[in-house]
Amino acid sequence: MDTITPKIAPAPGTYTPKGQLIGGKWIGSVSGQTITIENPGKRSAVAEVPRAAAADVDLAVAAAEKAFPAWRNVVPRERGKLLLKIAEAIEARVEELARTIAMETGNALRTQARGEAKLAADIFRYFGGLGGELKGETVPLGEGVLSYTRREPIGIVGAIIPWNAPVMLGALKIAPALCAGNVLVMKAAEDAPLGVLMMSDICNEFVPPGVLNVITGYGEECGGAIANHPKIRKLSFTGSTDVGKIIMRAAADRIVPVSLELGGKSPSIVYPDADEDWAVDGIVNAMRFTRQSQSCTAGSRMFLHEDIFDSFLKKLEKKVTALKIGDPLDEASDIGSIINNKQYTKVCKYVQDGLDRADAKLVFGGLPPKSGPLSEGYFTMPTVFADRSNDWRLAREEIFGPVLVAIRWSDEAEAIRMANESHYGLAAYVWTHDIGKGLRAAHAIESGWVQVNQGGGQTPGMSYGGFKQSGLGKEFSLEGMLDSFTQKKSVTVNLAV
Ligand code: NAI
Ligand code: MG
Repeated sequence: MDTITPKIAPAPGTYTPKGQLIGGKWIGSVSGQTITIENPGKRSAVAEVPRAAAADVDLAVAAAEKAFPAWRNVVPRERGKLLLKIAEAIEARVEELARTIAMETGNALRTQARGEAKLAADIFRYFGGLGGELKGETVPLGEGVLSYTRREPIGIVGAIIPWNAPVMLGALKIAPALCAGNVLVMKAAEDAPLGVLMMSDICNEFVPPGVLNVITGYGEECGGAIANHPKIRKLSFTGSTDVGKIIMRAAADRIVPVSLELGGKSPSIVYPDADEDWAVDGIVNAMRFTRQSQSCTAGSRMFLHEDIFDSFLKKLEKKVTALKIGDPLDEASDIGSIINNKQYTKVCKYVQDGLDRADAKLVFGGLPPKSGPLSEGYFTMPTVFADRSNDWRLAREEIFGPVLVAIRWSDEAEAIRMANESHYGLAAYVWTHDIGKGLRAAHAIESGWVQVNQGGGQTPGMSYGGFKQSGLGKEFSLEGMLDSFTQKKSVTVNLAV
């Protein structure tokens, strides 16, 4: 279990991993095995990280258990101050973090990775200020009784995160869990652990050993061991709905609380008065085309009013085809590459499915080129299909790639009905100048987050989480920290004694 000596030369300006973080130390896996990390924009190996399994989870849990009694007793605002220092330290290294994210995820540096690195610092800053909010209430049970509540940490939290915005999603586990006095065992995604390890390296300069343990391993082998560990008292998962169900079943066996941030197939409803550039820009943003649409909140079902169907699609084509696809680390690139071969193949299959349907019209895009620079990485083309209803695979399943379906509507109630015809309910977008219509739709849509006339990303302070099979619980906010990372205790005192 020595520190890993990398066999692969790191790309300039990126972070070189030292192993996994257990008990404040950087170590290899118990088995000695490693996982090779790839730059998906070039299909080349860029680093090696430990391949953790059950034995590594045991070590991480033991380190966390040892750290918990002291950490839970640190005054909450003092814990918060450490998070504020972490925020500053991340900011000081934001460029290195951004380049690392771009290199390992394929997300373009300028449009995505840099913003993600900055957001990670912002998340630590936000939660760093919330230590004092871990307060309880007094309950008026009568003059002879003092009854009050306490927000106590849960203990060892097991967290599992995905690769699509790994550092942001990692920060969203670390900052609230630690602020609330918990200790953490977190598994980074096997496809994108480097930025998370770098952020953890920064955290490790400030928090005591064992408070934050970050391991690197595969899903079932390592994530499964976290989900099933008897000493882990809370599970917090971000990823696919299928794996979310596995996590929830594991939690049911031990009755541990679980937070799930899962997939989506989010609708965008465009009203006839919104056939304008700002709405087209908003749709491009909401669909997350510049993150190859690898986003749980991607607005991937676009309900366009029939009166503007063709004109809106023309405008959209002009905007989207002007975006530059290329090397994620190149400042000129708007769009980078898909994360790995598995996801790339999956996205291409969906595109092929659309092409194979006579009743679906390809508006623009299609399969990726087979030769030239773009064939050297997992680059896909932003693609739009039109003229089929809401009932085919492309309109129902989370593609997690840049494939948008455009569906006609004429009656508002019908548009809302179709928008709600999904087992997902994460995000939604409504586009209109008419505030009455916009808010009526916003209230009728079954989603955890509806945006009217904007397609932005999450902001700290705003409770975020899905309805239906998109998840359970909230993140990103004070409410999320209190509900997901504390347990409320009532203390009742008889004052007559
Ligand atoms: P995934 O859900 O399999 O992976 C997410 C995390 O869960 C990773 O850290 C992985 O190692 C872990 N994991 C996988 N199987 C596990 C298990 N049995 N027990 C415990 N942990 C496990 O997602 P994947 O395979 O990377 O992507 C597949 C699809 O999932 C995507 O096409 C997309 O539709 C969806 N997805 C949704 C995300 C979201 O933010 N909502 C993020 C990533 C994927
Ligand atoms: Mg998987």
